[in-house]
Amino acid sequence: MITNTELEFKGDLYPSKIVSFEHDVDSVYFHSSNSVILKVTIVRDSLIRFRYTTKGYFSNDFSYAIDKSHSHGYNFLEVIEEFDFFKIQTSKVKCIIQKIDMRISVFDLKDNILLEDELGFHWEESYEFGGNIVKMSKASKDGECFYGLGDKATQMNLKGKRLENFATDQYAFQKEQEPLYKVVPFYIGLQHKQAYGIFFDNTFRTFFDFCHERRNVTSFWAEGGEMNYYFIHGPKMEDVVASYTDLTGKPELPPLWALGYHQCKWSYFPESNVKEVTAKFRESKIPCDAIYLDIDYMDGFRCFTWNKEYFPDPKRMVAELAENGFKTVVIIDPGIKIDKEYSVYKEALEKDYFCKRADGPYMKGKVWPGECNFPDYTNPEVREWWAGLFKELISDIGVKGVWNDMNEPAVMEVPNKTFPMDVRHDYDGNPCSHRKAHNVYGTQMARATYHGVKRFAYPKRPFIITRSAYAGAQRYTSSWTGDNVASWEHLWIANIQVQRMSISGMGFTGSDIGGFAEQPSGELYTRWIQLGVFHPFCRTHSSGDHGDQEPWAFDLEVIDITRKFVNLRYQLLPYLYTMFWQYIEEGIPMLKPLVYYDQADTQTHYRNDEFVFGNQILVCPILEPNAIGRRMYVPRGQWYNYWTAKLVNGGKEMWVDTKYDEIPVFVKAGSIIPKYPVQQYVGELEFDELILDLYYKEGKEKSVVYEDAQDGYDYKKGRYSFLTFQITGKVSELNIQLHKEGKYDTPYSKYKINLIGLPFKIKRIEIDNEEVDLDIEALERDSYLIVDKEFNALHITG
Ligand code: GLC
Repeated sequence: MITNTELEFKGDLYPSKIVSFEHDVDSVYFHSSNSVILKVTIVRDSLIRFRYTTKGYFSNDFSYAIDKSHSHGYNFLEVIEEFDFFKIQTSKVKCIIQKIDMRISVFDLKDNILLEDELGFHWEESYEFGGNIVKMSKASKDGECFYGLGDKATQMNLKGKRLENFATDQYAFQKEQEPLYKVVPFYIGLQHKQAYGIFFDNTFRTFFDFCHERRNVTSFWAEGGEMNYYFIHGPKMEDVVASYTDLTGKPELPPLWALGYHQCKWSYFPESNVKEVTAKFRESKIPCDAIYLDIDYMDGFRCFTWNKEYFPDPKRMVAELAENGFKTVVIIDPGIKIDKEYSVYKEALEKDYFCKRADGPYMKGKVWPGECNFPDYTNPEVREWWAGLFKELISDIGVKGVWNDMNEPAVMEVPNKTFPMDVRHDYDGNPCSHRKAHNVYGTQMARATYHGVKRFAYPKRPFIITRSAYAGAQRYTSSWTGDNVASWEHLWIANIQVQRMSISGMGFTGSDIGGFAEQPSGELYTRWIQLGVFHPFCRTHSSGDHGDQEPWAFDLEVIDITRKFVNLRYQLLPYLYTMFWQYIEEGIPMLKPLVYYDQADTQTHYRNDEFVFGNQILVCPILEPNAIGRRMYVPRGQWYNYWTAKLVNGGKEMWVDTKYDEIPVFVKAGSIIPKYPVQQYVGELEFDELILDLYYKEGKEKSVVYEDAQDGYDYKKGRYSFLTFQITGKVSELNIQLHKEGKYDTPYSKYKINLIGLPFKIKRIEIDNEEVDLDIEALERDSYLIVDKEFNALHITG
């Protein structure tokens, strides 16, 4: 096992003097006298890859994380040899490599230091496994802050923490518990208000130490594989996250219904129970788009089978649910029951698709169905086979989404909760042990599932959700944060985890609303749903062994508040969809922690609770019982309290009053927030108006709205509508310019513009330079305008 004091180990080896170098197109190779080669690749002017080998040659370059279509190419590259160092310069950064010991430092073009090796690359030979434990240490200045790393259940700012990446089934995890379900070895450093990123693309168990062991040292290391990392220059955090997301990939758009509300429980069965729950949603007028079937829908937990006693005719049931607006999502786990009568097992056995132990036998482990074998999803042929298994579920039965669970992979009743480390994997033609494949197993499963569901759902879009994930999984799947607990502390954790996933490239994430384990009080459930509707993925789930967790399991007040907030989510669907579009187009995270929102304001560097939903809505959950308000930091700029329309000046901490049926929500002054009417499910209603809530501001502000057919792939052929509203507010004047792009004709014909915070009485309105007749009385009473959607310029004067 690796020692904890990685930096002090006596057996550590270091590169010695650089004796030669070669420059080959976008890469520069440096050779040391002790067979270390450092390969520096300029991916982009602001994105540099550092790869080391100690063997004198590199092994095959293969990564599951990197998206093949990531952008690369640079504007400028110069390599210069000086007396005691080499200099590699691009149009954005300068990298110095010391001849004496290969240590690296990176500067911006103004000579500000961005990243500096402390000991730099070093390693320990692993006698037990072969290969090396590879290590890197960087000098860190006081005041440097760190963010990212996926689903960690700790403060946003990781300064002072040591964290571990090893995908683990961590039932009822606690605050600070390590490691968790997902592995995203990517962090953002922030120093002197300048941000940079490091992506350590190594799938072995990895560790990150942010000034925990030594105050001015940050280090990361892995139990095997290569020291292989990317440096991403900001200086804006926005640029770091966008580059990282471009490098590891973006998803396609989900169907709009997937952004609706989802209801889950372990488990809804038999059919009559599913029907009862879905009917109750419609009856209670709480919108809901998806209903989940957990493991009990299967026959003895055998994947791709149905329990015919509970679900005698799944196709009919799924169709009936669909008529009522419900999409059915089913769980599929990786463990395949060892059962000679079971076709999936038989086929995988025949084709030799299961993972094997080092000495030959199939890897065997207990999960829900008892003893199982496990497909090797790192084999492309196995993935193809797995994808094909979804035909019946999707094409014939009409299931709309698939939920992949237990794919860390989880094994029951064994101390390490997973496969033995000697298990062999294909790793896409790079055979290896489970030590290397463990962290990607879940992603490769979700990838195979995604391809299958996509194939059979076509021309509709697939929906996949996974528990385990490695960097890059966002290309295939959404995710949830695993088995949390119905506690106030877990509400705090969920808020941070989802924000952190958002800046770690994996934005389509949510938590089990209300908590999976144990029973939430009505108040806790209320506070959780009030936060959950602002998470990209919004689903209530519970283990079901402690009572019900549907909204009506609580008192009337909770039901009403749940309806109020789920309604709000449905109203905000076009806003949510637009932020998804910006995520997949530009790599912009859907949720923005305050530090991301305004890194130049040092007040934001240690904030945890507040975040910006999309670009213009500030949200701060209530995380304690009996609250009548809370203190929060409102970032710089002017913000309208969503509930009272009162304007506040940010840049300070303040007390915000809230009622039980509210949490602090603010809208940035100048915003135009698009809204749909409340629907019980996506597509329920036809409507002729897009609602635009316009929050007046003196000055300029831009807002955008993305729409398309809400499903299918026509948007890829340009059939989308992208509206850009530019408002300019003056003391007694308001101008709205509208610019339209895309070939999709939205089904409505008008905008209903709600004028919020207008400081003057309207005397005159011109649309495209023509004055309109005004009903001044109605305007003063209602404060809204109805305008034909074809306008280009709207001019309001007082
Ligand atoms: C795991 C999942 C949970 C699911 C349960 C039964 O605990 O994390 O969401 O309900 O298994 O399938």
